[in-house]
Amino acid sequence: MKQPSRRRRGVILTLKGWDKFQAAKTQTEFNENAGDCFSLEELSDRTRLALHTISRIQGRLEPVDKSSLQSAFAAFNLELCKEDYTQPNPPDDLELRHTNPQYDWGEAPDVSVFYGRSLELVQLGEWVLEERCRLIALLGIGGIGKTTLAVKLGLQVQAEFEAVVWRSLQNAPSLEEILTSILQFLQWVLRKEIVIPESFDGKLSKLMECLINHRCLVILDNVETILSHAGQAGQCCSGFERYGQLLKRIGEVPHKSCLLLTSREKPREMVFLEGDRTAVKSLLLKGLNSAEGQQLFQQKGQFTGTEQEWQLLINHYGGNPLALKMVAAGTQELFNGKVAPVLQYVEQGILIFDDIRDLLERQFQRLSAIEEEVMYWLAINREPVSLVELTANVVTFSSQRLVPSAIKSLLQRSLIEKKGEHFFLQPVVMEYARQRWIEQVCQEIQDRGIQNAQTPTSHSLLSDR
Ligand SMILES: Nc1ncnc2c1ncn2[C@@H]1O[C@H](COP(=O)(O)OP(=O)(O)O)[C@@H](O)[C@H]1O
Ligand SMILES: [Mg+2]
Repeated sequence: MKQPSRRRRGVILTLKGWDKFQAAKTQTEFNENAGDCFSLEELSDRTRLALHTISRIQGRLEPVDKSSLQSAFAAFNLELCKEDYTQPNPPDDLELRHTNPQYDWGEAPDVSVFYGRSLELVQLGEWVLEERCRLIALLGIGGIGKTTLAVKLGLQVQAEFEAVVWRSLQNAPSLEEILTSILQFLQWVLRKEIVIPESFDGKLSKLMECLINHRCLVILDNVETILSHAGQAGQCCSGFERYGQLLKRIGEVPHKSCLLLTSREKPREMVFLEGDRTAVKSLLLKGLNSAEGQQLFQQKGQFTGTEQEWQLLINHYGGNPLALKMVAAGTQELFNGKVAPVLQYVEQGILIFDDIRDLLERQFQRLSAIEEEVMYWLAINREPVSLVELTANVVTFSSQRLVPSAIKSLLQRSLIEKKGEHFFLQPVVMEYARQRWIEQVCQEIQDRGIQNAQTPTSHSLLSDR
């Protein structure tokens, strides 16, 4: 028997309501908690609401009773007004994707299992809906959740668009192919007599015409596929330079649509277009926090660990959801779901699950010699370092002047992170880089004989420590 469609009762905060709540919370944290964020438990005490209700309220995806919102607001001396809450989107994500033929979600993955990212969704929602940004990039290391977040965001905002079209560049299609496929879809959906031009320029102009006259959301996933492995990060591969033209046109020409892209590296064109006042934005995705990471584990089965063990494990993998999923599977298979023994291995730097190695290896293969050297140096040094320290410690004088641009490029590739003036590696990246470097040194020693092992990239790094 066909199930009647599930009615979702309750309400969620609007962006406006969420902003109001966050502002009051931040002010109270400042006044009463020395500026530190309230933990979920503290919020629960203060609002007299259950922990999961607080998470739902802040996440804005799952509905709650209106009275719960009122309690949450009252706890911060706010009154809940009509514009602060709304009905949530109807059914679940998969149903949403198929409810309307205006939305072509192509091969976008299912995102019904989704944790965290409430801040990111609010920020992105503002860029798309309020600031009407024309070009937005979701950036970050492989597996951090770019594709998943892009789908989630798309589903949340799709009702605001006349057409939504998702295409992946994973198999490196030419821009002409992509343009034709997008135009074919728009032709149908906008019920327009769009004659698809033969020439590339004609197709690009036709697309721009659609984006100017209709509000469309175009999502391009896996843009790093068409970016070059060689040289500085973010340049289009030879033969794919036209994608650069597309980004430039979409970022520069006023129109009412939005191109959302996901990529491990920031395309070069965006670097020039981006700025506070422009309609071009990018968001660098960080990992999930400990509570969200735990939820991801729980979805795979039963696990046991103390709060501190969880925190160590999840931090070690930088909250990378793909890495965590793999670790969850390994922890189930090898350690009966116990976190403590996994941590013992992790702390000795022994255990890196194979799939994560593959993921990182693919990222490393894209690096230039100087980028690789900087990675190794950061891995061996372990502590965060400033640009000045890094430059001073790079071995050859000729490569010293390349350090700033290598750092820039590594940041764009999301392989290094920056806090204040200092650069550092996520623990799992650091462990991987150390192992890779050791393997390289061993290989060189084997190849040349111990006396002659003097390559600048690896051996002299060793001599300093
Ligand atoms: N917020 C999230 N909640 C739950 N699972 C997630 C989340 N983000 C990513 N994942 C899972 O992690 C894996 C990698 O995510 P994905 O979006 O493909 O990463 P990326 O596109 O950055 O390489 C996928 O299996 C996805 O389902
Ligand atoms: Mg992806």
